[in-house]
Amino acid sequence: MTAPTSRLAPLPDALDAVLAPPVPVLVAPMAGGPSTPGLVAAVLRAGGGGFLAGGMRTPDQVRAQVDRLRALLADDGARTPSPAARFGVNLFVPDAVNTAIPDAARTPGALAARAEAVAAHRERLTALARDLDAPLPDAAAVTPDPAREREQFAAFLAAAEEQAWPAVSFTFGLPAPAVFDRLAAAGIPAGVTVTSAEEARAGVGHGAVFLVVQGPKAGGHRGTLDPAARPGITDLRTLLSEVRQALRDTPVPLVAAGGVTDAGQVGRLLAAGATAVSAGTAFLLTPEAGTSAAHRTALRQTVAGAAFAHPDDGGAATAVTRAFTGRWARSLVTPFMDEFADAPAAYPEVNALTGPLRRVAAERGDLEHVHLWAGTGAHRIAERDAAVVLAALTPGE
Ligand SMILES: Cc1cc2nc3c(=O)[nH]c(=O)nc-3n(C[C@H](O)[C@H](O)[C@H](O)COP(=O)(O)O)c2cc1C
Repeated sequence: MTAPTSRLAPLPDALDAVLAPPVPVLVAPMAGGPSTPGLVAAVLRAGGGGFLAGGMRTPDQVRAQVDRLRALLADDGARTPSPAARFGVNLFVPDAVNTAIPDAARTPGALAARAEAVAAHRERLTALARDLDAPLPDAAAVTPDPAREREQFAAFLAAAEEQAWPAVSFTFGLPAPAVFDRLAAAGIPAGVTVTSAEEARAGVGHGAVFLVVQGPKAGGHRGTLDPAARPGITDLRTLLSEVRQALRDTPVPLVAAGGVTDAGQVGRLLAAGATAVSAGTAFLLTPEAGTSAAHRTALRQTVAGAAFAHPDDGGAATAVTRAFTGRWARSLVTPFMDEFADAPAAYPEVNALTGPLRRVAAERGDLEHVHLWAGTGAHRIAERDAAVVLAALTPGE
């Protein structure tokens, strides 16, 4: 397979294995169920790359996923480069260790205002919780504990070292330079998701050795470093060139992500300077993905044009909303997103408040109250094996 790549310079070996697999397409990390060791293994075995999702999991759960992935790939150990050397693990950066949050957002006054906004939002959710017969956690129970966040983040870093993860990608924030130094000392290349040239400069300034450049069409959460910032709308190819320009003195490999569902798009992003292209939504309907039944139903309806259709162009109706989690994320459009469009910028509190509602709704197949993460290409995805989806994303196939 000779897919085009656009590497500026050879990557160090460890990073080369993860970011420049035989097929320059990575399965994106997708927390909340879709990412499974089976999905990542299938893509790696078919020649691509990919990241396991560490978000919304405990360090022990992630360790078990890494073990499982390596066990699934054990038979491929003799292949060079070994698929088992080509995966990474994606970690959420909690507020407590996110250096991109301005000091003004951490003052006692700002934290009290945030708690008040969360409590008011909780009140607004009570009627729906009653209707759905779902529990609504207390406001105090959803307030994050910075000490616990720091402890858990440290446990993830320890797991990365002990299990010698081939690479780490961070999202939801920018850890301190010491974190990148620590992973580098352990031989683990670490990168971060960015959504603007300014964030790219900050990421590399802290020691990121690669960046995931996420464009506005991406499904799921936007990876803005400051959670209160409104994510940009610059299209991915323009964003890539802005990032390359901003990093002209300190270039690092760029993984492009957002709205990619075909090989033509992959080829254009490689030509625009990406080392690899990451796709999430394209893999959501594969049998290997752990996508929930409700999410699958909504995506099938979207593909069939039976629901979630955009009134103007017939594509997928998606929008970026804070209603589900308190952080901007792209979902298929549901009435819940309109009703709670003014949810406060408070992740993980809003996520924890709405979680039980969404779980109850999903169990009942009530799609109106479930987060249905999807990129703008959701109407173009296929219900095929992950290897087949990867082949369809491979330029020159
Ligand atoms: C269901 C779902 C879950 C996601 N979870 C994560 C995550 O845990 N970590 C992360 O960095 N990005 C996450 N993302 C964003 C993806 O990494 C990637 O940016 C996005 O899927 C690219 O856009 P696409 O879905 O149009 O391909 C998620 C996306 C989806 C669709």
